[in-house]
Amino acid sequence: MNFSVCSNLCLALLLCPLFLGVGVLCETLCNDKNLDIEGGYYTLSNGHFYGSMLVYHCPEGYYAYPALTRSCQKSGAWSPGPKRRSTQRCRMIECPNPLVLESGSVFPVQAQYFVNNETTYECYSGYTLRGSSSRKCQPNGKWSGGTPICSSGIRDGDRCADPGTPPGARRTGDFFGIGDGVTYRCDDGLTLVGSKERVCQENGQWTGTEPKCYYKHTYDTPLEITEAFGSAIRESLLVSETNNDTDLVGKKIHVEKGGLLNIYIAMDISDSINEEEFQKARNAVIKLITKVSSFSVSPNYEILFFASDIKEIVNIIDFSGENRKTLDNILTELKNFQYDARENVGTNLNLAFKTILESMAIQKQRNETLFEQLYHVLIFFTDGAYNMGGRPEETVAKINEMVIMNKKDERDKNLDIYIFGVGSDIYDEDITPLVTKRDGETHYFKVKSGDELDKTFDEIIDEANVVGLCGLHRNYDKGTPDSQRLRYPWLARIEVTREGGQGKCMGSLVTPEYILTAAHCFKFEDTVDKIKVKTIKSQDIKVKSLILHPKYNLKAKAAEGLNEFYDYDVALLKLTKSVDVSIDTRPICIPCTKETSAALKLVGEKITCKQHEELLLHKTYEEASFMSYDKFEQFEQENQVKLKLKDQRKNCIGLATTVENITANNLEKVVTANFLCSGGRDPTRDNIACKGDSGGAVFKNYDDYRTIQVGVISWGSKNLCPERVSQKQESTDESRDFHINLFKVVPFLKEHLGDDSSETAPLTFLDG
Ligand SMILES: *[C@@H]1O[C@H](CO)[C@@H](O)[C@H](O)[C@H]1NC(C)=O
Ligand SMILES: *[C@@H]1O[C@H](CO)[C@@H](O)[C@H](O)[C@H]1NC(C)=O
Ligand SMILES: *[C@@H]1O[C@H](CO)[C@@H](O)[C@H](O)[C@H]1NC(C)=O
Ligand SMILES: *[C@@H]1O[C@H](CO)[C@@H](O)[C@H](O)[C@H]1NC(C)=O
Repeated sequence: MNFSVCSNLCLALLLCPLFLGVGVLCETLCNDKNLDIEGGYYTLSNGHFYGSMLVYHCPEGYYAYPALTRSCQKSGAWSPGPKRRSTQRCRMIECPNPLVLESGSVFPVQAQYFVNNETTYECYSGYTLRGSSSRKCQPNGKWSGGTPICSSGIRDGDRCADPGTPPGARRTGDFFGIGDGVTYRCDDGLTLVGSKERVCQENGQWTGTEPKCYYKHTYDTPLEITEAFGSAIRESLLVSETNNDTDLVGKKIHVEKGGLLNIYIAMDISDSINEEEFQKARNAVIKLITKVSSFSVSPNYEILFFASDIKEIVNIIDFSGENRKTLDNILTELKNFQYDARENVGTNLNLAFKTILESMAIQKQRNETLFEQLYHVLIFFTDGAYNMGGRPEETVAKINEMVIMNKKDERDKNLDIYIFGVGSDIYDEDITPLVTKRDGETHYFKVKSGDELDKTFDEIIDEANVVGLCGLHRNYDKGTPDSQRLRYPWLARIEVTREGGQGKCMGSLVTPEYILTAAHCFKFEDTVDKIKVKTIKSQDIKVKSLILHPKYNLKAKAAEGLNEFYDYDVALLKLTKSVDVSIDTRPICIPCTKETSAALKLVGEKITCKQHEELLLHKTYEEASFMSYDKFEQFEQENQVKLKLKDQRKNCIGLATTVENITANNLEKVVTANFLCSGGRDPTRDNIACKGDSGGAVFKNYDDYRTIQVGVISWGSKNLCPERVSQKQESTDESRDFHINLFKVVPFLKEHLGDDSSETAPLTFLDG
């Protein structure tokens, strides 16, 4: 017997009945003939079995032609089948025809425009150019920049500006008065994405959104998606700092504090998306909602997976009333959801929309007043290849009716339907009618794979533009000091110039105007002009005033033989000028503020300081970190400790008696209840602070994206750091560090940081 011939096929023959039920035998295997592609390769999602998806891959700047994908049919044939006459090959990507400019000329004139070809645009005299004067054909088959338009200004009778004609399109309609319409159509082989028809409105704006002509192989770059979707979602999540939101209303969804935002996420898991893709797409969803959660609004969610049927992860109704689902519940359920390829034949896109419509109807019925205040954001992930349940258009129209209530002007912003087309073969023409069309906004995005989607969602909410959120940071490390530092945008170093040397300490930015550090970093004779603050971004920040805790008194116990006494060892430095909050400069969260409640996802009016403490300093061994400067690497490294609380605290502080003149008798007077204790090797070996680390934050990372400070490094029982050694130091059995517990100095923090007279937004401290 010849086994080599058998390898793939015999295995298939064996497995086949298990998959498809006895009786259907393996004549259904699709064969390998004529599948190869010139200049590229293909992958199969499930071998040669029924339902398997063949995807062609070409190098950048090329696309597969004539087929992008094939799927293995029950009959054992590929659809579309390979054609004998036209060989499958990788073709150079073209951009749509740019020679559609009216009242102007385009250089150079070519029959076709390929990747990296450039064009320039010039208007005839008397006309002025809007849009880009030069454009480049990009590797995704789109022209860079915006549609160039030559206009002679607003003509008599016109109300709207010339809407132009995008590359690859033809426009009919040359009058731009109120009620005049223009219609578009794309050249053969291109699909119109956006509005086919636009009407000039009284306010001088065209209805809908600018149309674009997409090839089937046209994709959006992560940057394009980040810019369009990222800014929309960000603005919908940002709590406006002032009440002056005139420029937001009508343009972008805008949500009041407290969040009346409903986010519905529906993901296609039909056989057209394979398991690996599914995992990545799910990760993207997890990323999206985790990032959303770092904002001050807490939306209600509905999350569905759909194929021929619906699998519901959470229903929006679960968010009403007392027992709100927490983000952790949702994430756990998302992570636990199993993909089962056998269940996922057929795609019922309509059913997904219907399910959402039903949820909306229930909400409306329960409380119409409340429903009217809600903002609804639908985010779909699908390749658009539905094959059951009928066309979704009608259901989408009903969703529009339900939310907009025939008050388009007023309520238009209450609904956004976004669709991410994901896959190697996306049905543009079926998807574009479903998404929201609003001038200057994009609601349809095309992504090649779940991988791309995952990457895109990493960047989608760019923290750089978000102000007012404490402790938000980037959470990846590209291996460079700069990227590493983006994890600690609150980090500050303090230098005090004195005769005969320099004092060095660490600190943390707690508002754009204040640095929190240790009081012992300063001597009586230090004046503010001798103090300099450095952050990652700025090297030389000047200090306006130094505020020591009023109860700090190093010499308070000198008479009892203790030359140094560190109770209340905290200080604030007020900067001469507030720093600008950005991706690399941002305050850390401190306990007992509303800002930190949001970071901890505590929602409601009656959150207390105690609740913060229960979340942050609750366990017997509470993990925390601090930063130390690494002389060798020349940047700060994160150190790990376990704060010993509850019944372990006593043991921990007991080791302070190894310090001269501290005894069992005076121990609790020296290490007062205001100190947190870390160090030692039990249950795991802690890092230990060195001299220059004083004043630094002892902090906890919450939920990957937020950092909350719980202590200030004050003193230690042993100096384990020789002058010249640069690396992180590990604790011995006996060594202990003591940190001021921020929960014990809240009145001091509140007095200065909650001060309404401060020029920058003060923190809002919790009552009680
Ligand atoms: C346009 O691109 C093609 C393919 O890269 C190249 O062969 C051609 O020279 C380019 N034309 C111009 C005018 O740059
Ligand atoms: C609100 O915004 C408008 C337009 O930007 C501006 O003219 C006005 O002064 C602002 N009002 C306040 C109270 O800031
Ligand atoms: C409906 O919602 C509004 C607005 O939130 C609220 O004031 C009202 O009490 C609610 N009515 C009922 C019956 O729950
Ligand atoms: C310990 O106490 C003695 C006697 O009061 C004193 O001389 C000495 O300076 C003290 N040492 C420290 C480190 O406080």
